[in-house]
Amino acid sequence: MNVLVIGGGAREHALCRSFSLDPDVTSLHCAPGNAGIAEVAELHPVDIMDGAAVADLAVALGADLVVVGPEAPLVAGVADAVRERGIDCFGPSREAAALEGSKAFAKDVMAGAGVPTARSYVCTTPEEIDAALDAFGAPYVVKDDGLAAGKGVVVTSDEAAARAHALACVGAGAGDGEPTGRVVIEEFLDGPEVSLFAVTDGRTVVPLQPAQDFKRALDGDEGPNTGGMGAYSPLPWADAGLVAEVERSVLQPTVDEMRRRGTPFAGLLYAGLAITSRGVRVIEFNARFGDPETQVVLARLRTPLAALLRAAATGQLAAFPELRWSEGAAVTVVVASHNYPDTPRTGDVITGLDEVAEKDEHAYVLHAGTRREDDGRVVSAGGRVLSVTATGAELGAARERAYRAVDRLGLEGSHHRRDIAAEAAGL
Ligand code: AMP
Ligand code: GLY
Repeated sequence: MNVLVIGGGAREHALCRSFSLDPDVTSLHCAPGNAGIAEVAELHPVDIMDGAAVADLAVALGADLVVVGPEAPLVAGVADAVRERGIDCFGPSREAAALEGSKAFAKDVMAGAGVPTARSYVCTTPEEIDAALDAFGAPYVVKDDGLAAGKGVVVTSDEAAARAHALACVGAGAGDGEPTGRVVIEEFLDGPEVSLFAVTDGRTVVPLQPAQDFKRALDGDEGPNTGGMGAYSPLPWADAGLVAEVERSVLQPTVDEMRRRGTPFAGLLYAGLAITSRGVRVIEFNARFGDPETQVVLARLRTPLAALLRAAATGQLAAFPELRWSEGAAVTVVVASHNYPDTPRTGDVITGLDEVAEKDEHAYVLHAGTRREDDGRVVSAGGRVLSVTATGAELGAARERAYRAVDRLGLEGSHHRRDIAAEAAGL
């Protein structure tokens, strides 16, 4: 199989790594990729937001399967553009990707499907905002309606800060980015968070193993929200029936509801969940693999990935054999650049990559924002720079390996969390 991966972060490096180990994959391409992906795939400098350009590339390469990593091209309809040219594509249509692209749309689908989620109001005026903040009380949860790379959400007990973010989202204040005109204000969900991915062809749902992400920038869940600073899988503290329960109460009803609406969702359905005292609640849906959870989930998946994703892209999942998983654990630690997530600095030299590769076969570095300079040096090129991943018989061992690898790396001004998977490993 000839596979083209779209994107250039650590999630795409993890996908490419799995494809490079998959005997079905005879040729592997990535656009635009990064310095790490270049070691396993041929890179193509294409604007991934341009559906026609991506489709042209897929045709030119003779791709059998295109896998779209990030949300932005999906929401822009890039998967549709590829399919229109007769090429199988793993990734939802533009309309189905609205499950991630609009939090208000996702709430509407969940209401229709009877999926448990936080009670919420969609607000467009300062009056509605005040009423919603009063209705729920502190802590306040205020979400920008549009795509914001995990950074459009403010959870705070400071009412003035909650109101200011809400006003900025509707365009009534000075905020970052384009105002969408709508803000979602919702009930605070207490309890641990779980990311559960399902591969779906629009009808059949195949859940993967759950993972936990660390969204805050600093140890102890302090500091601002980020795209994700680390992850681990499996979750030793979770109920054995969790995956089956979420499949029954969340994943299957959502996929059925999307089909019923005439916008079937085929691709990766990511359920961000809170395990509250009153049961499982959906925090958000995403329309693609999560980053950095993919790094640990794929580290444990034994079933070859290409056939699975192709079965989803072609409506063949019902006949797909049961997935096989490693019994062991995986941990990933994100190394972020100076000043991430505010104004990340780029262009810093990364050292120690060869040493990690030589010292431990169970630890490896997945590249996120990296670039190789003409002189051969690898430098940072984004906020999240590296996803250092390791496997082990249990979480404690995987975690130790991951941190030993992190300590071998050098990146001026970088920061990373030291507590990824610590509590789950019993530390
Ligand atoms: P989202 O982009 O919707 O995933 O939100 C980002 C993060 O904000 C989540 O991972 C949670 O940590 C937090 N969050 C979002 N919604 C809620 C909620 N209703 N209650 C508590 N925390 C939330
Ligand atoms: N890890 C969070 C996300 O991918 O949205």
